[in-house]
Amino acid sequence: MLSAATQEVTLVGRSDAIRAIEADIDCAARSDAKVLVTGETGVGKEVVARLIHQRSSRSSAALVTLNCAGLPDSLLESELFGHVRGSFTGAYRDKPGLLEMAPNGTVFLDEVGEMSTRMQVVLLRFLESGEIQRIGAERSHARVNVRLITATNRDLQAQINSGAFREDLYFRLNVVRIVIPPLRERGEDIPLLVNHYLKSYSLLHKVAQGEMTAEAMDALQVYRWPGNIRELKNVVERIVLKNGGRLVRLSDLPADVTKSITPALPAESVDAAARSSQADDLTTMMLKHGESFWSAVYPLFMARDLTRVDLRKIVQTGLEQTNGNYRLLVQLFNMPNDDYKRFLSFLRKHDCHLPFQRFRSVPARLTGNRPPLKV
Ligand SMILES: Nc1ncnc2c1ncn2[C@@H]1O[C@H](COP(=O)(O)OP(=O)(O)O)[C@@H](O)[C@H]1O
Ligand SMILES: [Mg+2]
Repeated sequence: MLSAATQEVTLVGRSDAIRAIEADIDCAARSDAKVLVTGETGVGKEVVARLIHQRSSRSSAALVTLNCAGLPDSLLESELFGHVRGSFTGAYRDKPGLLEMAPNGTVFLDEVGEMSTRMQVVLLRFLESGEIQRIGAERSHARVNVRLITATNRDLQAQINSGAFREDLYFRLNVVRIVIPPLRERGEDIPLLVNHYLKSYSLLHKVAQGEMTAEAMDALQVYRWPGNIRELKNVVERIVLKNGGRLVRLSDLPADVTKSITPALPAESVDAAARSSQADDLTTMMLKHGESFWSAVYPLFMARDLTRVDLRKIVQTGLEQTNGNYRLLVQLFNMPNDDYKRFLSFLRKHDCHLPFQRFRSVPARLTGNRPPLKV
């Protein structure tokens, strides 16, 4: 990881898509309008939110970020709005919420599509009144002047159709819309990003800067990048650490990347192979790129872009790693421990809860609390 100090916020790329997004950011920075940023995981939604804040008249005030995924309602509400002493067990003193901590600044709500319908009502009420009511308080505590930017990797329209997202809230949030296309649809940005991160990771790890052979760069351009730029950064950092300043050849790339440049498959197996590679991609996103099950897998499954067979495959791969232990699986898939019950009831409801016994004979690769994973 790049440290906060070296992590300058820039949007690397020269594709038409990136140029258009740059213009959208400038335009959004000139007003206080709410912005909804959408796109797959790792495409740069948070980067866009940061740039809007930095280029706006609010830049000297705070930008506070809250990720709505995986937070139970009560915690999410308390984080946003604060609470008063005694309002629940453990509330020993009054606590201000994030909305109060960014006066005249910007609040960035990431993964807003994961909010429960109850929280959506609470957020809507705040957007309509501008008033903050801390949990347990009799009346509203204060009015705040904040600019709201939200982001999601979900298809909110589909969620509205299925009743999971409120249409009135969607209209409120979706004033300025910035859509970031996946990296595989803007291949010309890939060499720029690779070189950018070759340089910054070489500096960070104090190694000479290596170069890519044309063949290696081609492979990086052909690869599908399910984890987008987050994944690309990760791959480049591993290459820098492994290769030092040496020339980077095709054989130096991770197997995940090079396996995508295998000869074409016969037509009838393409569908099945594409599906199984989707399950593999999603597993990789969780195991190697820290994505949570709730943001990587769950939305696709609910939108029926992922079949039960795929979901069972993902669960199976995870259980093989945890020796059949579902509690460790929750950690492995980057969910908070408290989500254990919710995760299990989700799997049961969709008939994807595999019996753990058959994984017990496999020697455990995981023990205790979040050990380093070798995947
Ligand atoms: N166009 C870009 N240029 C440089 N770095 C980028 C770009 N887009 C994303 N990144 C980097 O990729 C990582 C993932 O971006 P992020 O904004 O967190 O994605 P998202 O919120 O869409 O999941 C971050 O480390 C970010 O700095
Ligand atoms: Mg994000």
